[in-house]
Amino acid sequence: MAAPVVRLPLPRFCQGFCFSRRVAKLRGHSTEAAAVLKERPALSGEASSDAEIATRKKTFSEVLAERKEQANRTVLINCPSKITEKKLLKYLSSHGNIKNHFFYETHGIYAVIEFSELDSIASLQDATGMPQFEDDCPIPFKSRIFTLTLKNPPSQASEPIHLHKQTTIPVGELVNKLCNADSVSAQLQILMEKYQLTEENTKLRFLACSLIQDIAGAYFPDCNVKPFGSSVNTFGKLGCDLDMFLDLDDTGKNSARRKTGPFNIEYQMKRVPSQRIATQRILSVIGEFIDNFGPGCVSVQKILNARCPLVKFSHQPSGFQCDLTANNRIAMRSTELLYIYGSLDPRVRALVFGVRCWARTHGITSSIPGPWITNFALTTMVLFFLQKRQPPIVPTLDHLKGLAEDKHIVEGYDCTFVSNLNKIKPTENTETLDVLLGEFFEYFGNFAFNKHSLNIRKGKEQNKPEASALHIQNPFEQSLNISKNVNATQLDRFVTLARESAWLLQQEGKGPSSSHSQPWGLAALLRTSGLSHAGKSTKRKRGPASERIKSLLDSLKFNANNGKRTFGTWVC
Ligand code: GTP
Ligand code: MG
Repeated sequence: MAAPVVRLPLPRFCQGFCFSRRVAKLRGHSTEAAAVLKERPALSGEASSDAEIATRKKTFSEVLAERKEQANRTVLINCPSKITEKKLLKYLSSHGNIKNHFFYETHGIYAVIEFSELDSIASLQDATGMPQFEDDCPIPFKSRIFTLTLKNPPSQASEPIHLHKQTTIPVGELVNKLCNADSVSAQLQILMEKYQLTEENTKLRFLACSLIQDIAGAYFPDCNVKPFGSSVNTFGKLGCDLDMFLDLDDTGKNSARRKTGPFNIEYQMKRVPSQRIATQRILSVIGEFIDNFGPGCVSVQKILNARCPLVKFSHQPSGFQCDLTANNRIAMRSTELLYIYGSLDPRVRALVFGVRCWARTHGITSSIPGPWITNFALTTMVLFFLQKRQPPIVPTLDHLKGLAEDKHIVEGYDCTFVSNLNKIKPTENTETLDVLLGEFFEYFGNFAFNKHSLNIRKGKEQNKPEASALHIQNPFEQSLNISKNVNATQLDRFVTLARESAWLLQQEGKGPSSSHSQPWGLAALLRTSGLSHAGKSTKRKRGPASERIKSLLDSLKFNANNGKRTFGTWVC
């Protein structure tokens, strides 16, 4: 039963965030989502049947549009620990049909409630009171995050609710599970199943973006906040950060000019000297708004002088560490590119998850910005390796460009590649993951990093154009190196560990030890103590502690430095 839309009285300062406008706008978005879904290219030029649509791999924009529409119909409710699921659902269903729900724990217990209709949210908001604090004063910003309390505590214990986990199991526990598998391929599969984003975690990521869009919408009602990076590129691990892209392009698109009549009419707008300054100003005010009025948004840091200006904050209700950027459409394209590679062949994700986990365990990658290899660079290295197999397991970017129907130019850079996964021929390569993992370490343990750069556009190594320790060509801004930050020490550590890992996998042969008690295969690679014994001839160099401490200090220092980092969060 859909409840009527009610216009809410809003305090003056937040009238930019007008709910009825939001509903109207979101309705627009649902239509937009529906339009994207309808526009799916038909196979063999014929009209698509429902069955065909269901079996076909979705394009990146289809996935984004579907999830976004879902998130717009969803609310987040902080619940008392003694909540009864049935009672809660009954209480909320007076506002409309509930399509989906789940619970999780972060700073308290939260329920994610997805209504069937958007109007249910207005009905719920209309029935919701303002909090009363004894000493503090609430900022009257009405969001879609609520707190539910019990009027009378229950006399008897309620049935426990199922809480969906939003974090990975500890590596030690994972290693134990891996020991029971019967091949390295099976181990990689287990690792991926345990670490990948769950359906619920993905829903929560889209909901967090939708909630931030409500805030940004106070200034820019037509804006769109989209997730990018590992939240949506198929390589996301539970607990990874949430990269958000504030897209203001729709603002321009909606103002279709009338071509007839004697006049042209356009908005009067403030001018600034460059796009970068515009981005900095926009992020500055949105960051300020998030900091002052965003429910549950804490530790807000504006890092506006980085190569890619951003606002970092912690979104407590969802538990995500968020990076909000604007005007970086190329990152959106690289996210889609990775989505395509990750969806093409099941071995791609399994190998990337394995290599990322291996790198993180041994401190090759880090959450602190610094001279280490990033997950993005590491993923590109795996893709390059898979392009070099005979026959290749994934195509080159140039091949994907050749299959595209339309050109896609972003900020003057050619970002063209095919979106329809069904147009890409599957590989004939049948190598197992057991082989591929060992070969990956062998390949990069012996790669001529001093001479060659990696280029996934061509699927070939090329002469290094500059002196950086590691050169991985940016797939779109081709004159740039995505691993310019990596220093010789860190590259050296990667190479040493890759050699030791290749050696360890070779020593062990292909199968588990008979007792299953000793870590073997991937489990042995993930033991922090395991590899120091592997390459007896090579001394393992742990990253100098001083380098790590220096980077940590640098990353903390920017606040005192008025947001100026000694290094950007992105190197290029
Ligand atoms: P996580 O470590 O799991 O967060 O992986 P991620 O892929 O999300 O990486 P990150 O959060 O650092 O960056 C988000 C996205 O920004 C990436 O997926 C890329 O699309 C893009 N990106 C990251 N680093 C670089 C870089 O150095 N250069 C360029 N051009 N793009 C980058
Ligand atoms: Mg990320």
